[in-house]
Amino acid sequence: MRLMLVVGARPQIIKSAPIIRETKKHKEIELQLVHTGQHYDFEMSKVFFNEMGLPDPLVNLSVGSGTHAWQTGNMMVKLEETMLSHKPEIVMVPGDTNSTIAGALTAAKLQLPVAHVESGARSYDMRMPEEVNRRLTDHCASLLFAPTRNCAENLTAEGLPRNCIRVSGDTMYDALLQHIPAASKTNIVKKLELESEEYAVLTLHRPENVDNPSNLKKIAKAVIALGQLTIVFPTHPRTKQRLDAASLLTKLEATSHIKLVDPLGYHEMLQLTKHARMVLTDSGGLQKEAFWLHTPCITLRETTEWSETVEMHANILTGSNPFKIKKAALEIMQNPQIRSKLSKLRNPFGDGRASQRIIAEVLRRRT
Ligand code: UD1
Repeated sequence: MRLMLVVGARPQIIKSAPIIRETKKHKEIELQLVHTGQHYDFEMSKVFFNEMGLPDPLVNLSVGSGTHAWQTGNMMVKLEETMLSHKPEIVMVPGDTNSTIAGALTAAKLQLPVAHVESGARSYDMRMPEEVNRRLTDHCASLLFAPTRNCAENLTAEGLPRNCIRVSGDTMYDALLQHIPAASKTNIVKKLELESEEYAVLTLHRPENVDNPSNLKKIAKAVIALGQLTIVFPTHPRTKQRLDAASLLTKLEATSHIKLVDPLGYHEMLQLTKHARMVLTDSGGLQKEAFWLHTPCITLRETTEWSETVEMHANILTGSNPFKIKKAALEIMQNPQIRSKLSKLRNPFGDGRASQRIIAEVLRRRT
């Protein structure tokens, strides 16, 4: 079976790694790994291939950065040529990036079956490019792998046929379980001169925060005011550019409790998250990783697609409001029991075998 897997952005490589590993157990599968080139810096792409022991992609379309339409359109043109020449029997797309929608839409137009991994996640905020991408991808797909029951319910509420939906669990959780032993061998906490549970991890890259100078200023103000904690800030290339343009980069660099570092690899990021007092982020994936590692999370957004984590009080939504950010951080710092409470929560994201279920179902559908 020729299975084409389309990746392009950092989180998709993580979501795909356990699936790629699973395909290797099935001789009947010919994996066609396609990288759109959406992410191209070593720290945004290749480092994950290296750490996760992934094969080089069959093709790299080297599309690179651009406006949404330019990027998605160019990916589609190149993906169409790739699909026509490699003739996949099914096209699998993980996540919600521009590479996801480009893969799904191109395959659907060629009448190839589409499998969506991480299907049914919804923030119900159509201003987010990811919400547009995941909704449209779900409606192009005939195999919808929902990471949680909640995600599956979102799909049925949109009228998608039940026989296309499978609650598989979350492949990011599979990846985390597979890589935690390697993560614990990194010495990132020591390397950054940090003490376990005495620092926070900050990540930012969502357009609603970084492309909006007013929100970016509010978040910067909030973290500058959080002097009680060292804040480690692995900075996405886009965020670095925007901070510089808003004259905030030098301000943050000059703040003694804030450590700006280059984007980190998967293992170092897991280890840093595991030992943090809290995570402040606008990333979707990091909200889940914090949950699995029992680290309290403050989400710098108004909405989240992982509402389960908020309902279980493991995640607090603050948007970019400095008062809410401060209140949430103090609440976490004043609660010494919080980590132990989080460790007792039910995990709605499966049992670490999502990839097995996904590949088994893909093979079953073929016969
Ligand atoms: C993309 C995804 C987002 C995901 C994120 C993970 C979309 C719409 N967004 O956002 O869902 O959470 O990846 O990081 O697909 N850049 C570099 N080097 C790189 C990649 C990007 O310098 O390797 C810079 C470029 O200036 C680029 C900007 O970052 O214009 C934004 O990159 P882009 O791929 O458009 O979106 P992300 O913000 O990374």
